Amino acid sequence: MSRIGIFDSGLGGLVILNDVLNELPEYDYIYLGDNAHVPYGSRNINDIYDLTLQGIQALISKDCSLIILACNTATAAALRRIQQTYLPHLEPEIKVLGVIRPASEVILEEGYRSVGVLATEATVRSESFIRELNHIGFHGPIHQIAAPLLVPFIESGNWNSGELESFLHSYLEPFNNGVVDSLILGCTHYGLFTSRIQQLVGSGIHVIAEGKYVSQKLATYLKRHPEVEHQLSKNRSRDYFVTGEPTSYQHFARIILTDHFLPHSQIFPLSETA
Ligand code: DGL
Repeated sequence: MSRIGIFDSGLGGLVILNDVLNELPEYDYIYLGDNAHVPYGSRNINDIYDLTLQGIQALISKDCSLIILACNTATAAALRRIQQTYLPHLEPEIKVLGVIRPASEVILEEGYRSVGVLATEATVRSESFIRELNHIGFHGPIHQIAAPLLVPFIESGNWNSGELESFLHSYLEPFNNGVVDSLILGCTHYGLFTSRIQQLVGSGIHVIAEGKYVSQKLATYLKRHPEVEHQLSKNRSRDYFVTGEPTSYQHFARIILTDHFLPHSQIFPLSETA
């Protein structure tokens, strides 16, 4: 039997994990945050691919057979290559899914006509949202804005500062003139500030945070793929690892995962585990 792995460059994946645990609490999960190398968004595509692959390999070595890249930047830079070249040859039993497809499908399903994407530099540069949206049949305007300062700031834990507020104001400004009717938060870290972002852009724009949709689509995927679902163990265990410093993550996890992060839960450095 095996577990579900959730991977991100840092703490954004915890935001996704929280929704996944609400939707599918019965399974066993392993979280891995590559906080030794965050932010991914300012790295080049080959670096991001290598780091993502290392994360996937670490999760496979901990018995994960289904891995969610809860990171748009990793999804944009690495998912397709991993699915098309790495897995078929080296790990044919392992499934790896990303977050860009579920977020893009919402646009079509809910009938939006013009889309904003707020994401990291690497995600914007990759044009993955544009490709995915076009691929599934959306041909309206897409406005991408890169927000390079947000992830490093969020990782520093200064979530209530005036500085973060002013970054949000300036990154969201291009969306203030009615140019889009929907805004995808195309970086899992930004999901922490969904309500503030919704307030700032106003009710004319629907803000799409990925967690809710990733978890719903995962539930559907498991129903459609019993051969994957049957391999997963259901003991409600959760294990947390980071590649860098674990102390601040202990604090972040308590805030983000609320009731899911039990009093005895601990975040371990990956290097100290087998
Ligand atoms: N949570 C990652 C994402 O969704 C953040 C990327 C970063 O490390 O810059 O893109």
